[in-house]
Amino acid sequence: MIVSGAASQVLAARLATELGEPLAAVEYDRFPDGETLATVPEFDADRAVVVATTATNDAWVELLQLQDAVREAGASEVVTVVPYMGYARQDQSFADGQPISARAMARALSTGTDRAVLVNPHENSVADFFGCHVTVCDAAGRLAEPLPEGLADPLFLSPDAGAVGLAEAVRDAYGGGEVDFFEKIRHSGTDVEISPSDADTGGRDVAIVDDIIATGSTMSEAVAHLTADGADRVFATCVHPLLVGNARLKLERAGIDRIIGTDTVERDVSTVSVAPIVAAAVDAVEAA
Ligand code: R5P
Repeated sequence: MIVSGAASQVLAARLATELGEPLAAVEYDRFPDGETLATVPEFDADRAVVVATTATNDAWVELLQLQDAVREAGASEVVTVVPYMGYARQDQSFADGQPISARAMARALSTGTDRAVLVNPHENSVADFFGCHVTVCDAAGRLAEPLPEGLADPLFLSPDAGAVGLAEAVRDAYGGGEVDFFEKIRHSGTDVEISPSDADTGGRDVAIVDDIIATGSTMSEAVAHLTADGADRVFATCVHPLLVGNARLKLERAGIDRIIGTDTVERDVSTVSVAPIVAAAVDAVEAA
């Protein structure tokens, strides 16, 4: 059975269809003191596939509760799919006294599952923090699907050198175009400085490709450079459209034409589904 976290209900339903497995009923409650309670009242299967994006602390707790609930109900195998893994960007101790939060969360998750499936964690090395088998899926190439055909002299840009592989994946899936990257310096959680790429952008259609749009600072800075330099249409594409706070406003004000994201984070811009690649990852390990 497919068992959904509250933030992954659409993806869980799509995954149930892909895998041909029933979608479990789940109830999400909260006690007066703020504690969450996720219940799977009629779980009845050998295998549970728990699907839960963990963009909030509550979602993390709910995921652990769902793993425990299905074990308690008799699941002999638990597969945990984390479409968007919160805390994955805290993958180092950046200053004395800081935890490696991604490791702490991975360890907690590993105690309740036989294996895990992640979609574009911020760095693939986060998989090393888990105490169970992990399959990492790359959804970047699927971001090309909603792009219009016939882009004008298309340019695929990543906001920094580290994400250029994502831009290449989208370019390859689209079928052609130039790839380049901006230089990025992050001053704080919301203050990002972007230097233009070497590519000539005037009159061209540009797709910026990143793993996450969170505050929108990175993407809106990049878009502003492109519109100032005379780019024609600018598409902001990402795997995880978190879009927190005033991110949408920042992007609109910068001159974005369209935001394209996947259903790892369920927003109105989540027009691409990762269900087929997640289903393949779940089945591939089973077949191994
Ligand atoms: C950082 O290295 C990531 O790849 C993203 O660029 C970043 O998480 C985006 O965050 P924000 O939207 O807050 O600038």
